[in-house]
Amino acid sequence: MTQSLIIAFDGPAASGKGTLASVIAQDYGLPMLDTGLIYRAVGFLRAQQGLTLEDVPQLVAIAQTLDTQTLDNPDLRGREAGEWASQVAAIPEVRDALKRFQIDFAHQLGGAVLDGRDIGTVIAPDAPVKIFVTARAEVRAHRRWLQLVKINPDLAYEDVLADIRLRDERDSSRSSAPLSMADDAVLLDTTDLGIEAAIEHARRIVKDRRGSF
Ligand code: CDP
Repeated sequence: MTQSLIIAFDGPAASGKGTLASVIAQDYGLPMLDTGLIYRAVGFLRAQQGLTLEDVPQLVAIAQTLDTQTLDNPDLRGREAGEWASQVAAIPEVRDALKRFQIDFAHQLGGAVLDGRDIGTVIAPDAPVKIFVTARAEVRAHRRWLQLVKINPDLAYEDVLADIRLRDERDSSRSSAPLSMADDAVLLDTTDLGIEAAIEHARRIVKDRRGSF
């Protein structure tokens, strides 16, 4: 019996996992879910509605009623939305409310590619291919700064680095589904890799892993 091809990409902020996940999804003709966008949407709506992080029932309601159109809002890709996302992502009730959708997406017929923080550990621990993408914080901050400075020319690299460090710390130390590498994940450190080389490595990992089930 062939197993459904679920490919899980996890890793810290701006590690390149999103780019790699979309290339691999295209290679295999699989649907892809950027789970960070879901948390960004909840964080963004929290701020827009003036809710605090203590307003848990309202935050859960936002998570339960999130519609996929919200995910197209370009503001979700901004710097603030990343910080807001990481704040709501530390609330277990919010994570629970978003879980079913992600599990169902991962386990659809034929398979799927997902990227996030807890795909290989919580959402799809059964995924046959798990890649944990990382890079040194300074390198990740530089990549993220290059993206963000296009829309905010005054943005300082040091501020982006501080954001990334704060988010890494919060995402790794939270009690509910902290960022961690699954035991059976393959580590891909992109610190010294350009985008093409990183893609080549990811393609090889997927090929090797696919062959082994
Ligand atoms: O793109 P970037 O790596 O900056 O972040 P993202 O993947 O868009 O995720 C934004 C935030 O959402 C992260 O800092 C996490 O706190 C949270 N997140 C999570 O907790 N679990 C996921 N599966 C995906 C994102």
